[in-house]
Amino acid sequence: MLDTDATSTPPLTADSAAGSATDMTTGLVDPFGRTIEYVRLSLTDKCNLRCFYCMPKGHSDFELPEHWLNDDEIVRVIRAFTELGVARVRLTGGEPLVRKGVPELARRLTALPGLDDLSLSTNAVLLAKQAQALKQAGISRINVSLDSLRPERFKDITGSDLQPVLDGLMSARDQGFAPIKINMVAMRGINDDEFEDMVEFCLHNDFTLRFIETMPMGSTGAEASEHYLDLQQVKQQLGESYPLIPGVMPGGGPARYVQVQDTDLRIGFITPISQHFCETCNRVRLSVDGTLYLCLGQENKLELRPLLRDGISDEELRDVLIGAIALKPEKHEFKEKPEQVVRLMSMTGG
Ligand SMILES: C[S@@+](CC[C@H](N)C(=O)[O-])C[C@H]1O[C@@H](n2cnc3c(N)ncnc32)[C@H](O)[C@@H]1O
Ligand code: SF4
Repeated sequence: MLDTDATSTPPLTADSAAGSATDMTTGLVDPFGRTIEYVRLSLTDKCNLRCFYCMPKGHSDFELPEHWLNDDEIVRVIRAFTELGVARVRLTGGEPLVRKGVPELARRLTALPGLDDLSLSTNAVLLAKQAQALKQAGISRINVSLDSLRPERFKDITGSDLQPVLDGLMSARDQGFAPIKINMVAMRGINDDEFEDMVEFCLHNDFTLRFIETMPMGSTGAEASEHYLDLQQVKQQLGESYPLIPGVMPGGGPARYVQVQDTDLRIGFITPISQHFCETCNRVRLSVDGTLYLCLGQENKLELRPLLRDGISDEELRDVLIGAIALKPEKHEFKEKPEQVVRLMSMTGG
């Protein structure tokens, strides 16, 4: 992985990150009073698509395989998190399903006491083949990225074909995953004439729809920002075509929801730029090389891999996690310092 942050916050060490003696009942509370109960777990930084806003064309600067946390290491870190009160984990990437053996890893994770919810973010290209095994492994909720329903446009955005994604979505629906959320990055001049089509698609298939604002992550994110759309405008646009009422979504995370009246369709708006939601942030991110990122938009991090491979004990590991949470920054600065985050979304685990 690129070492992009040599001048900012230095990586924590076991000593500098260690907090007070482990008290497994306290849970993980950061200095701003936010309880951390959610981990986004990146299973790879590789991907079988090249969404232009996420990963540069021809990108090949991937993490070395020997630096990837193996399944045992992942289970160990997540177990330590669950012992400290983390109840929810989302598998992400890169594209998590390009990693071998995800259903088996998922089965081991769902067996951990205290883990109530294991979910998956995927581009769905490989989902048709794996949907049944993933369901049997205990994954219940799936988010699928889908920015266009038009094959030509989908190819322009991702460099690949739409049909496998649609096949994957239908397989997931047939397997009974619920909810299935479609994540659409709203982009001016790219897909802003397709919002109503996506609403109809979700109404028809019983999916939940979420719009996302572009974020300035790495060079690709900077390019995406040229197409930035304030989701308030998207909501207004949809309000002209559909009767929207306030909506709620259990476990809906940072999205603010509306519902299309007289239907089950909920539409969420994820607005990291126009209305950030840092004050309720409950999550941290673990990248495939074992780096714990404390904020999507800041460089504060803890490198766990060397500690794991140097024989850290379970108790020390919990103490190190507690110490790391104490360094969680108050907020991202995507708006104030858009040039600040030089790592790609696919590296951090989106
Ligand atoms: C990095 S992907 C990883 C999981 C999986 N490959 C997928 O696409 O769902 C997670 C989410 O990040 C979003 N994303 C990536 N780069 C982004 C950017 N610059 N701005 C906003 N969202 C972005 C994607 O649209 C996707 O919904
Ligand atoms: S958004 Fe997801 S599918 Fe698209 S390039 Fe990034 S990791 Fe791959």
